[in-house]
Amino acid sequence: MTNTKIASVRAQEILDSRGFPTVAATVTLEDGTTGWAAVPSGASTGEHEAVELRDGDKARYFGKGVSKAVANADGELAKAVKGLDAGDCAAVDRKMIAVDGTENKGRLGANAILAVSLASARAAAGKTPLYEFLRSAYGIKSSEWLLPAPMLNVINGGKHADSGLDVQEFMVVPVGAPTFADALRQGAEIYQILKKKLAAMGMTTAVGDEGGFAPKLKTHAEALDVLTEACKGYDVRLALDCAASEYYKDGKYFLEGKAQSVAEVYAGWVSKYGIVSIEDPLAEDDWSGWQALTAKLPCRTIGDDLFVTNPKRLARGIKEKSANAILIKLNQIGTLTETVQAVTDAQKAGFSAVISHRSGETEDSFIADLAVALNAGAIKTGAPCRSERLAKYNRLLAIEAALGPKASYAKGRAFAAPAAAGR
Ligand code: PGA
Ligand code: ZN
Repeated sequence: MTNTKIASVRAQEILDSRGFPTVAATVTLEDGTTGWAAVPSGASTGEHEAVELRDGDKARYFGKGVSKAVANADGELAKAVKGLDAGDCAAVDRKMIAVDGTENKGRLGANAILAVSLASARAAAGKTPLYEFLRSAYGIKSSEWLLPAPMLNVINGGKHADSGLDVQEFMVVPVGAPTFADALRQGAEIYQILKKKLAAMGMTTAVGDEGGFAPKLKTHAEALDVLTEACKGYDVRLALDCAASEYYKDGKYFLEGKAQSVAEVYAGWVSKYGIVSIEDPLAEDDWSGWQALTAKLPCRTIGDDLFVTNPKRLARGIKEKSANAILIKLNQIGTLTETVQAVTDAQKAGFSAVISHRSGETEDSFIADLAVALNAGAIKTGAPCRSERLAKYNRLLAIEAALGPKASYAKGRAFAAPAAAGR
């Protein structure tokens, strides 16, 4: 018999893909099994996200150190979870939420709490594949093992690059591939074709934070045109993340340097370029705008900064039909259990749940297993380039191979017209 009671927690300050500090933790069980996990970090963060605790000590990492969060994990959190059964992920998370005692995890830090939450789940999984463990730990009943459609971010703008493009992410979604492996092949080939096309236009092919190119194109239409060209001959669709809070000011949306009626602009792009989803088309508190836009656009609207993976904000969005999909980022809410809750609430309401990385990432591939465990149907984890992005895509290749004939590929399922309940 294995003993999955938590014996100890050791956290560490490590570096993310931008070279800034983040939290990693190792949880050791009484039987000696260990689990490691690392927490990502965003740049275009939502106003309503759980608190990422940073030291603020300008003498270290310009104030971005996480030594306080590490001390909280090693101290208060370790003490709180010691002796708990790591296999009961919900109980471990409940305990940490209670010990922190704040609504936004601001006392001990969502980065500290999440590192322990994920490392504990990994330790409990032991030799069982993580996706399989997560499915049973949260009592998810399905005979299907769905490999998610990758949303490959091949052109970076907004806060992730100095391309000058306001829209943050231009993504390729291989909806027609027979398998995940083939979807990734198509995305990777398109990425290389796009690189050649940009070079031929005299553009730089250096990449942004998520591995996509950051060409200095003058208009969004130019970006969409060259991307459409690169996709010729492939059965793929396009998707956008506008991260529009970044270009919203004084009640107006500024695209390409001028205030615009973005609903009209987006509707034009959707019909011309066959876009299947737009994430954060509007600002994070523009609830009425979201409702009107979701009713208008013939594609999925995905709430990232709007919902911040928070079951409470999602509940409002479901009620008000503000969107019909949610972006899922573990560190926006700060525990595995609340994240799973957000996904299952969304799915019940006919919303799609897209599992996502952050722009600041690590080699941890936890979200790949999470996407499969929850049959999410879509994952967004950057370009097919840079190892912190490929760690997730490569893990999905391994999962698909391990599942063999039990695996099925989601194709465009997450982008299908929403069921009546979700609209
Ligand atoms: P972030 O970007 O991690 O910088 O927030 C990703 C996104 O907006 O989806
Ligand atoms: Zn986003």
